[in-house]
Amino acid sequence: MTDGMRLRQVRKSFGPIEVIHGVDLVVGEGEFVVFVGPSGCGKSTLLRMIAGLEEVSDGDIEIGGKDVTDLDPSQRGIAMVFQSYALYPHMSVRENLGFGLSMANVPKAEIAVQVDAAAKILKIEPLLDRRPGQLSGGQRQRVAIGRAIVRKPQVFLFDEPLSNLDAELRVSMRIEIARLHRELGNTMVYVTHDQTEAMTLADKIVVLRDGVIEQVGTPREVYEHPANTFVAGFIGSPRMNLLDAAGQGAGKVLAAGAEIDVPTIAAAGSGKVTVGLRPEHLVLTASAPGTLKATVDFFEYLGGTRYLYCQLPDGQSLVAEQRDGDDLAAGETVHFTWKPKDLRLFNPQGLKLV
Ligand SMILES: Nc1ncnc2c1ncn2[C@@H]1O[C@H](COP(=O)(O)OP(=O)(O)OP(=O)(O)O)[C@@H](O)[C@H]1O
Ligand SMILES: [Mg+2]
Repeated sequence: MTDGMRLRQVRKSFGPIEVIHGVDLVVGEGEFVVFVGPSGCGKSTLLRMIAGLEEVSDGDIEIGGKDVTDLDPSQRGIAMVFQSYALYPHMSVRENLGFGLSMANVPKAEIAVQVDAAAKILKIEPLLDRRPGQLSGGQRQRVAIGRAIVRKPQVFLFDEPLSNLDAELRVSMRIEIARLHRELGNTMVYVTHDQTEAMTLADKIVVLRDGVIEQVGTPREVYEHPANTFVAGFIGSPRMNLLDAAGQGAGKVLAAGAEIDVPTIAAAGSGKVTVGLRPEHLVLTASAPGTLKATVDFFEYLGGTRYLYCQLPDGQSLVAEQRDGDDLAAGETVHFTWKPKDLRLFNPQGLKLV
């Protein structure tokens, strides 16, 4: 691991309050890692500690095999892109791109080469003589990314870089960033609370809650095998249905009045468990044992998909996503089934059983 990164028992306190509680993380060279989690969970704080913009209270951080815990931001081989582009308004795009290098006393001719190369990668050559005020939001964000590129960092750090853009532009910039990663091959750490960005960009997703890592995995791992009910509920939209259930001896649980088959390894005894079923895994079926009976509350037609917002006999709610079929009216009774492999089960502490 040369250009990778390692966090060891990293903690952060603001005054008496600890907000990051001992984070361990290994990022491979060239990996695209995304930090996701609800507002206030510590994503930016963690990223700012990696950048050196925030002091580490305890633990250490290695970049490219070197301990950088106490180094200045400028000595860490990182470049950071913020949500607020932080461009100099009185400078042209060209000057904005080259500013960091000229501060570092890089010769003018070399700066010109770097700036042109970055402008080419980001397709902003025609904009080089404009000022930031004469650019669209997406173009400004490109310049901000360009400013990071010219510094040739080992690691790129992004903190919600697309949050200020409208929905359409977010999608195209997201694809640009993915392309940039493919072209440059650098290690990238990207903070977002947009799970679509997380799913599409990440080699590795880090799900955070309250300053603790809840799960690290590929997008597929965290989506298909969430480690606990928090991750299950956070990744995926609409969220995974999490139903309170009670064990009924080996291989059965009782959920919302239905006796449901579960893998025998998972549910022995009569303890409380949580059944997890993703909306897209629920299939309308005829009434039969082992199916979930539900009453339709709302039916939403979105063209390619339809959402059924339902209520179960015991009052728990359930969302189902359908790809086709007839419209359903509020008040109709339906039954759902699923493939056994799509059922998830969590123990009373919310940890994954299957
Ligand atoms: N300078 C500070 N002083 C005191 N507390 C802080 C400071 N900066 C952040 N915090 C607290 O640390 C916690 C983590 O904040 P952080 O900004 O890292 O969250 P975040 O995950 O980036 O949230 P968001 O998605 O809203 O940007 C929060 O409880 C926040 O109030
Ligand atoms: Mg933040």
